[in-house]
Amino acid sequence: MEIAVLAGDGIGPEIMEQALAVLDALKLPEVTLWHGDVGGAGYKKHGHPLPPETLEMAQQADAVLFGSVGDPDCDNLERHLRPEQAILGLRQALTLFANLRPATLFPGLEDLSALRPEVARQIDLLIVRELNGDVYFGEKGMRTLDDGRRQGYDFMSYAEDEVRRIAHIAFRAAQGRKGKLCSVDKANVLETSQLWRDVVVEVSAEYPDVELSHMYVDNAAMQLVRSPGQFDVVVTGNLFGDILSDQASMCVGSIGLLASASLGETQTAFGTKGLFEPIHGSAPDIAGQGKANPMAMILSLAMMLRHSFSLEEEAARIEAAVAKALADGVKGGDLGGSAGTAEIGAAVLERL
Ligand code: IPM
Ligand code: MG
Repeated sequence: MEIAVLAGDGIGPEIMEQALAVLDALKLPEVTLWHGDVGGAGYKKHGHPLPPETLEMAQQADAVLFGSVGDPDCDNLERHLRPEQAILGLRQALTLFANLRPATLFPGLEDLSALRPEVARQIDLLIVRELNGDVYFGEKGMRTLDDGRRQGYDFMSYAEDEVRRIAHIAFRAAQGRKGKLCSVDKANVLETSQLWRDVVVEVSAEYPDVELSHMYVDNAAMQLVRSPGQFDVVVTGNLFGDILSDQASMCVGSIGLLASASLGETQTAFGTKGLFEPIHGSAPDIAGQGKANPMAMILSLAMMLRHSFSLEEEAARIEAAVAKALADGVKGGDLGGSAGTAEIGAAVLERL
């Protein structure tokens, strides 16, 4: 089991350290860790946010464990050299088109949600976000119009096969949960979304056991805070999924608790190859202070064990240890508590 460990920028290295301690404690046989530079750290050391040696490492590995990228020092670089390009580049190079972002309320955290506790308690959903297409990867640029005005543009599109493959992932995920799938789009305005909806309907014929509904993204944003309990699996495009998953994180209390898996179709000897990362960013304002909550990173490790190494039992053990630590009141600053990074990591280890 070869794992590319890409800690990245900001709080990435400190939270990664805690996740690796948890991995170590599991005493799994034959784990090999490769460490690579990525993001601002990659740029500073090798002149590129996704240095060729890091990409190569990610390509060779059975799974990628990813911290976070983003460094204010790099914000004025040309776009292709900015830290964020590392994660976009990996998603594209490894064809990781399916991003799974579960959002579940941990018992005891009802009061920390931005929603009323009785509403927050209902949250148990999975956002399946398409990750290789949409406006993220279309032609983009800046140009000057004939009358001298500057114009920025980003081309939005989805090809039917791109929609079909993510739809299959979402329908199958719904089969493994409560059997409900809500496809989120903006078909009342966008042709891209009309195609999305048509293809999702076509695919639904193969899943008569899944109850399919459609929702416009603006309504979905509203429903997510009004009554999140109505959602089981949500499938949506890259841009809408980016936004809705941050929103969902606040509904469960903190973005410091949400993990994600990015999967493609590559099967290794152990499971589905993927990249696993917290959905939060590099939080440069608190980096290096030992304050960051490593729970989302630790939960990302659990997702890696589940999806890439078929170690469901170990994954569940980690998730239970995190839930137990939270229930016992171990809370980082993001949850209104005072526990530091190392303390939270140790608390999870103790409960493993
Ligand atoms: C995410 C992030 C990324 C995205 C950024 C860092 C490029 O916000 O994973 O949600 O927009 O996909
Ligand atoms: Mg995002």
